[in-house]
Amino acid sequence: MNRAAAHAPLSIESLRRSRAAQRIGCRIEYFETIDSTNTEARRLATAGAAEGCVVIAETQTKGRGRLGRTWVSPPLRNLYLSIILRPPIAVAEAAQLTLVAGVAATEAISEWVPQAAIKWPNDVVIDGRKVAGILTEMEADDDRVRFVILGIGVNLNAAPEDFPDDLRDKATALCPAAGRSIDRTRFTERLLARIDDCYGLFLAQGFAALRPLWEGRSCLTGRTVQIEGAGRRYAGVVRGIGDDGALMVCDTAGRDVRVVAGDVTVVDGYAPAKPTAS
Ligand code: BTN
Repeated sequence: MNRAAAHAPLSIESLRRSRAAQRIGCRIEYFETIDSTNTEARRLATAGAAEGCVVIAETQTKGRGRLGRTWVSPPLRNLYLSIILRPPIAVAEAAQLTLVAGVAATEAISEWVPQAAIKWPNDVVIDGRKVAGILTEMEADDDRVRFVILGIGVNLNAAPEDFPDDLRDKATALCPAAGRSIDRTRFTERLLARIDDCYGLFLAQGFAALRPLWEGRSCLTGRTVQIEGAGRRYAGVVRGIGDDGALMVCDTAGRDVRVVAGDVTVVDGYAPAKPTAS
């Protein structure tokens, strides 16, 4: 890969110009180093920052993933950003924003690597290996959302040695899959544009309008899986997702179950899936 391009900082002024008149990215706060872009976005949102404000950093010292995990954030190689959203929705609908962001991120990544797919609930994978993750955090007043922080990490030019040993066979980056180094500024522009489009559709028509796009990108439908989460284990075949974003699974006893949270393991690998009965 082109190491010089991979190590250039983001062209933040060009990014700001391209997003100035849009909803997502109308304000972009840029940091060389930050603890976590999600933490900084939460600080800004609490202080009143408007919807669409984006926090981007070249590296994070305390990048966070789901379930208290660390998000590996080497400098100048990848993308770490968080977006402040203020959707007029109930708390129960907020989890759908993770899926909305999943569609947007997968579509953006597909512009470089067409086989990119969504792995419920919040991963983007290439050939079964994770290339991006989404961390959605929320503040609410009673049952209404006050703001949502949508945090997205995308491995763009990371090298295998950037990942700890236990992640090396589970994680990847766009660069090796695309066979060239990734222009991080261009990728960020495309990602923000896709999020703007998908979020606009969500506000106008609800998650039901995005569900077919999500299903079309899902790598789990028809797969035999095991799911662990919230103290429960499930095993069965994935049928799809519900309008509320829950994963619909036909378990080994033939019962339909709705899973709202958990880590999914694909039992039979990513060989061509059998069609599911509808
Ligand atoms: C996951 O897959 O566990 C979610 C990973 C989310 C990582 C991103 S990087 C930008 C933002 N800031 C954080 O601290 N986390 C998210």
